[in-house]
Amino acid sequence: MRILLTGGTGFIGTALTEALLSSGCELIILSRGVHAKRIGCRFVRSLDEIAATEPLDAAINLAGASLAARRWSAGYKREIVASRTGVTRQLLELFARLERPPEALLSASAIGYYGHHGDECLTETSLLTSPLTSTLSPQAKPGFAQRLCSDWEALALQASQYGVRVCLLRLGVVLDGGGGALLEMAKSFRFGVASWLGSGEQWLSWVHRQDVVRAIQFLLQRDDLQGPFNITSPEPVTGRDFAQALQAHHRTFLRAGVPAPVMRVLVGEMADELLLAGQRVLPHALESAGFAFTYPTIQGALAAIYADHVALRIHSSSHQA
Ligand SMILES: NC(=O)c1ccc[n+]([C@@H]2O[C@H](COP(=O)([O-])OP(=O)(O)OC[C@H]3O[C@@H](n4cnc5c(N)ncnc54)[C@H](OP(=O)(O)O)[C@@H]3O)[C@@H](O)[C@H]2O)c1
Repeated sequence: MRILLTGGTGFIGTALTEALLSSGCELIILSRGVHAKRIGCRFVRSLDEIAATEPLDAAINLAGASLAARRWSAGYKREIVASRTGVTRQLLELFARLERPPEALLSASAIGYYGHHGDECLTETSLLTSPLTSTLSPQAKPGFAQRLCSDWEALALQASQYGVRVCLLRLGVVLDGGGGALLEMAKSFRFGVASWLGSGEQWLSWVHRQDVVRAIQFLLQRDDLQGPFNITSPEPVTGRDFAQALQAHHRTFLRAGVPAPVMRVLVGEMADELLLAGQRVLPHALESAGFAFTYPTIQGALAAIYADHVALRIHSSSHQA
């Protein structure tokens, strides 16, 4: 398969690149950086470098400025939006000029699409109308992340006008060693403090990075599938449950919640949008299509991650020494 990948240098993209290259795919990776040559990979800085006659079987769209990297100033929010809509628009322009548009576009989104719904279980069909007008729950309030996902998905869906099969990847919090959210979440544990955010009652819909890669490969292969897919493990946990599962991998001497007001001071608007509230999301569409998660439980996922990434608990070890 010949695949165009945006965001191929990121946390998910690097793992996906390895898997796709190992399975014999040829990749064109859109990246702003300069990269060493690699067999099977061609890096482009602009999609204009792709000729109209080039054959492409699929495009995978993962590019976007990180939501968690910085405080959401007005300027950074514009960058978060523009990086996603900008790259997605460039993909649409490419599909319009390709002699043969790709069969599929797999475009990233996030479970932030659903907004906040307390303990309700959310599947892909929970919000069949626009999430911004949904009355599913009185707790539903369109915030920045929800508007971002909604606009980003609407843009990606426009690829269907070129005959492209569009799958929307509604990603949960992706966990693995060596990057992503887990490094930040495990920080206090590495210094002996088991912590959770706010009440700890909020839901965390997480997924192991290897299951994300496998789900993307599954959706690439299955040309009968399209639409939104929650890429979250079948067993979401609360913040406190997550802290308990993480504790099994660290020697801790204190358990404490970080009070919500402290989080608001520390990270601003992001606290209420991403950290103090969550979504209880189930991967209904993927499982109905026959996809099986390698890591359905948080205990199994963390055990595998900690076995592979000893550095995650390095401070705990030195603390104990
Ligand atoms: N990781 C998660 O837990 C998670 C959860 C939900 C949704 N997602 C979504 O899934 C996608 C991939 O996630 P990830 O964790 O792999 O992201 P990541 O590690 O932050 O990588 C994203 C990639 O996007 C490109 N990028 C960054 N800023 C950009 C900008 N201003 N303009 C254009 N491109 C830019 C970068 O590629 P170059 O530097 O090579 O250009 C980067 O490698 C993201 O869109 C993210 O929102 C991720």
